[in-house]
Amino acid sequence: MPNAWFETVAEAQRRAKRILPSSVYGALVAGSEKGLTIDDNINAFSELGVRPHVLGHAPERDLSTTVLGIPVSMPVIISPTGVQAVHPDGEVAVARAAANRGTIMGLSSFASKPVEEVLAANENTFFQVYWTGTKDQMIQRIERAKRAGAKALIVTTDWSFSNGRDWGSPSIPEKLDLKTMFKFAPNVLPHPTWLLRYAKKIDIPDLTVPNLQPPGGEAPTFFGAYYEWMQTPPPQWEDITWIKEQWGGPVVLKGVTRIDDAKRAVDAGVDAISVSNHGGNDLDTTPAAIRQLPGIAEAVGDQIEVYMDGGIRRGMDVAKAVALGARAVMIGRAYLWGLAANGQAGVENVFDILRGGLDSAVLGLGHGSLRELNPDDLVIPPGFGRTLATSESEDKIDARANTAPRTEDAVH
Ligand SMILES: Cc1cc2nc3c(=O)[nH]c(=O)nc-3n(C[C@H](O)[C@H](O)[C@H](O)COP(=O)(O)O)c2cc1C
Repeated sequence: MPNAWFETVAEAQRRAKRILPSSVYGALVAGSEKGLTIDDNINAFSELGVRPHVLGHAPERDLSTTVLGIPVSMPVIISPTGVQAVHPDGEVAVARAAANRGTIMGLSSFASKPVEEVLAANENTFFQVYWTGTKDQMIQRIERAKRAGAKALIVTTDWSFSNGRDWGSPSIPEKLDLKTMFKFAPNVLPHPTWLLRYAKKIDIPDLTVPNLQPPGGEAPTFFGAYYEWMQTPPPQWEDITWIKEQWGGPVVLKGVTRIDDAKRAVDAGVDAISVSNHGGNDLDTTPAAIRQLPGIAEAVGDQIEVYMDGGIRRGMDVAKAVALGARAVMIGRAYLWGLAANGQAGVENVFDILRGGLDSAVLGLGHGSLRELNPDDLVIPPGFGRTLATSESEDKIDARANTAPRTEDAVH
């Protein structure tokens, strides 16, 4: 029996590719146009070097923090992903894994499991919405999440319906019944592990979105929900204030890339933002989120909590984001690969990889606590920051990069 444990997120991804039907795998790879933003999200982390100490390391390290007042064991929380058919336990397994590792679950309104089941698995769940449907529908959906006990609302507004990928988009059926399964057989049959997981539960992935179900009605299909969203006029800044009032609790605005938008988010009354480009799924050629983080954290980090997401695959990535001003990071594909590879245990495995890497980084950089990470721990190449909207902070980051000791200087 092969060892179910994997040592890196890259290995989890390889296993996910083997296990999942190519259409499901392709939907997780996602991306848009040339895929430049997805690549930059990952590659930008490789441009940042670190400056470890050789002695004087702390025997114990504190990796804990709080996110909107909720204590978390490490600064890594689950980013909402609206995906279907990855695993029969879906977001419930992810929520349990996050609870077992002492952190927060982010649940997409396009997810495959109802908010009530996810809250039962992890009381620290944030519910994510897009601006879709009428205001009455929005109120009904967020009221339902509030009744279920969701602790915060994530509002994602960075989607521009950009479509078309140079490497091709997966073909996903509107509904999965036995007839469609048969039609998709060439895609599904070479992936017996995936098929068996559903067969064991006597289940077929139904590709509906239960969190958009109207009272007394049927849950819409994924594509039905997507169509409703496309028909909804895009939100304005005053709509963020409106939704915050309706929700009556903490709101996270996800998808901020510019300093001027971060400042408007503060004015609109949000409690936190995530610097994010939707994992490279929105406008291609948007620079990596980690490049925008320092300028944004400097501009608004003393007023609201600033998170980032996009490209986190290692604990060292988490350390770099925290050093550049993130209070926490949100992970997307990393946990999806873990879920596909080994269900709940696979997601826990991913958390353990990130925790181990973060702990090594804090240790090697000579700190006793996560909170001590700072830009001087990093070798930041000139021009690394791509601050969108003019600000002094980019100059400061670049000045710091220019004066930071170069790797050769640090060695001698
Ligand atoms: C397959 C897929 C589905 C996603 N669905 C959602 C969603 O429903 N709501 C949302 O706010 N973000 C969604 N995202 C974006 C993620 O929350 C997150 O911003 C992104 O995955 C972070 O990048 P990473 O995958 O490199 O970690 C999705 C991302 C992927 C890959």
